[in-house]
Amino acid sequence: MSEQYRSAWAEIDLDAVRANVRALAELAQPAQLMAVVKADGYGHGAVPAARAAVAGGATWLGVALVEEGVELRRAGIDAPVMLLSEPPAGSATAVVQHGLTPVVYTASGIEALAKAVAHASNERPLPVHLKVDTGMHRVGCTVADAGALADSVVARDELRLEGVLTHFAVADEPENAYTAEQLDRFDAVLADLRGRGVQPDLVHAANTAGLLVHGERARFDLVRTGITIYGVPPAPEHRDRIALRPALALKARVSHVKALPAGARLSYGLRYTMERAGTVATVPVGYADGVPRNLAHTGGEVLLGGRRCPIAGTVTMDQLMVDVGDGRVECGDEVVLLGRQGDEEITADEWAERLGTIAYEIVCGIGPRVPRTYV
Ligand SMILES: Cc1ncc(COP(=O)(O)O)c(C=O)c1O
Repeated sequence: MSEQYRSAWAEIDLDAVRANVRALAELAQPAQLMAVVKADGYGHGAVPAARAAVAGGATWLGVALVEEGVELRRAGIDAPVMLLSEPPAGSATAVVQHGLTPVVYTASGIEALAKAVAHASNERPLPVHLKVDTGMHRVGCTVADAGALADSVVARDELRLEGVLTHFAVADEPENAYTAEQLDRFDAVLADLRGRGVQPDLVHAANTAGLLVHGERARFDLVRTGITIYGVPPAPEHRDRIALRPALALKARVSHVKALPAGARLSYGLRYTMERAGTVATVPVGYADGVPRNLAHTGGEVLLGGRRCPIAGTVTMDQLMVDVGDGRVECGDEVVLLGRQGDEEITADEWAERLGTIAYEIVCGIGPRVPRTYV
């Protein structure tokens, strides 16, 4: 959008991203740190987040899509960028052209990348990482196939087996033995590769929870952190494991104010009733912006005038209402939906808990219609 008139925005604190990455990099040592900036940097803006992460000490960036990697390259970012799943057939040429580092786990994927390298007549082989499914059952080769696939990469002049990785399913659950079982399977794969004379430079397994909860065994050579670089713990119970600064605040300005009598009912479905006569403020942000429709019905609040006020009635597509009670409010007053105002703070975790989801979905859900401002 070239011109901006709306009074709703997401404020991204890049200093917080840098500080979070610095703290994580220290915790990960001697392993390197990857900053995962897929999904537009978990809603924070991929390019600014990537730059801040590299400034904070991340040596790798991670993305889900080839398009996301290309966006980083077009912005002039030259840090190593890993595609966390095997790139789709048809994208191999772009992967090679843009110097992205793909994860591989199928014979056809390996073949396609080798061909693209051969056609590009690259001077040096393309580094690839072999992903092994040790129990998440999303993507990756089987434990049984890992050795043969590794051999097939090593046998090709066009490719170099730079890394081997896996991904955890329940790393955020300290008591769950499943992560140790995944690590046992992964260790067996690494031993098998060693037996074949294959020892990639970078072994990696841990996401944020893997580092915070299972760091001793899971950090290997590289740790892939996403949610914490944005200052959000992977689950609320891990909040105290590392000091983090939330990087995203969602703010808006009051667009309309009215006095309503006791008993007035508000918004679609008339599901909110004014218990007492009071002031209601309208805020120009809605579910099309990532404020879930149900937030009001699960006790959702905003910060206005330095205090918590309930969202009054169903959140609509572009707007929501706030019951200010007998508080003073004027058009143009700042409303904080996520973030800090005075002594109060509303976190993505708080929304997630109310809505029965995880904070990842909250921050990734802040829509593209919300302009990001960087501080
Ligand atoms: C393969 C892989 N590694 C690492 C991450 C980062 O996870 P987190 O944001 O929990 O640190 C993700 C994110 O989903 C992922 O898919």
